[in-house]
Amino acid sequence: MKALVLSGGTGSRLRPITHTSAKQLVPVANKPVLFYGIEAIRDAGIKEIGIIVGGTKEEIEAAVGDGSQWGVKVTYIEQDAPRGLAHTVVIAREFLEDEPFVMYLGDNLVKSGITKLVRAFETERPNASILLSRVKDPQRFGVAELKDGRVVNLVEKPEVPRSDLALVGVYMFDRNIHQAVRAIKPSGRGELEITDAIQYLVDKGYEVKPHIVEGWWKDTGKVEDMLEANRIMLEDIQPSVAGKVDAASSIDGRVVVEEGTEIINSVLRGPIVVGRGCKIVDSYVGPFTAIYHGVEIRGSEVEHSIILENSKILEIGSRIENSLIGRNVRVHRVDRRPKSHQLVLGDNSEVGIN
Ligand code: DAU
Repeated sequence: MKALVLSGGTGSRLRPITHTSAKQLVPVANKPVLFYGIEAIRDAGIKEIGIIVGGTKEEIEAAVGDGSQWGVKVTYIEQDAPRGLAHTVVIAREFLEDEPFVMYLGDNLVKSGITKLVRAFETERPNASILLSRVKDPQRFGVAELKDGRVVNLVEKPEVPRSDLALVGVYMFDRNIHQAVRAIKPSGRGELEITDAIQYLVDKGYEVKPHIVEGWWKDTGKVEDMLEANRIMLEDIQPSVAGKVDAASSIDGRVVVEEGTEIINSVLRGPIVVGRGCKIVDSYVGPFTAIYHGVEIRGSEVEHSIILENSKILEIGSRIENSLIGRNVRVHRVDRRPKSHQLVLGDNSEVGIN
């Protein structure tokens, strides 16, 4: 079996964070979202991965390389524009050959992995297998309607959903999907939809097997989803402190402090992760916070947030929470009386708060 990982597209819903970078590379618990997907595929025993890349090609290729860091072989497949999920299958035809494959959306996280699902697909041999999850806001997703446990109808982002079963971004197909993606026409939003291709398989009498995902999954396309993903992934971290923590600081709970980081007169309360080369001085960093490499926090409190590379939070005094802060951002105090702040800041921003 092969895998096709989708890492093209634009990431408009995570702007401004993704103005300057790929949404699939935004770190969750200090690891790019895309890497969780690659690891899940590798853990399922799949060695050949085709990665669809678009406008952020260079960045994705620099991060993932040839796949040897995971013991897999990566082939890059370039898509000229985000023409839809089914379009990626069309352009990956040569890579996929006639083999069955897993299609994995590079911004999706499936906590329990995909190993069991891949094994089930290999033994049961349906023509396609889809993952579904009950959600509160099905309008945001592809929605499936089941009858007696069989898939009867699939609609992409319906205004009036016929069920609460959202399509999770992991699909398994045999070679019959190739005729389906060639047969369908672009949707109202001008994309070749994979939901339409799967509907084609259903209509032609092919077996499309639904699996309801029991564990946690997330499409990390929005800031709130990213913070939730960060929280869930941090719950499982293994504590380790490689950096320097001075005697005036305290560390409670599951905390990771990577090498080259200094913690001075501060309180760290896990689960949190602090990357390499950071400096945390006279501050509090609370649960569910991921601080990426090179960040400096002084005289401030941060909780339930993601802070990306080389940003600085200086003398804020009060607490920053539920925030996603991009790279090279500088947040500093300019006046008195700060209260609570909720921020979504793009890369290279500078914000003065009073
Ligand atoms: O997350 C699950 C949902 O993913 C499903 O419920 C929907 O049925 C499915 O269409 C998809 O919806 P999204 O609107 O979330 O898809 P998005 O445009 O965010 O693209 C998903 C991933 O695929 C993302 O990593 C970008 C990549 N992509 C997307 C398109 C349209 C490509 O590589 N090429 C493309 O042409």
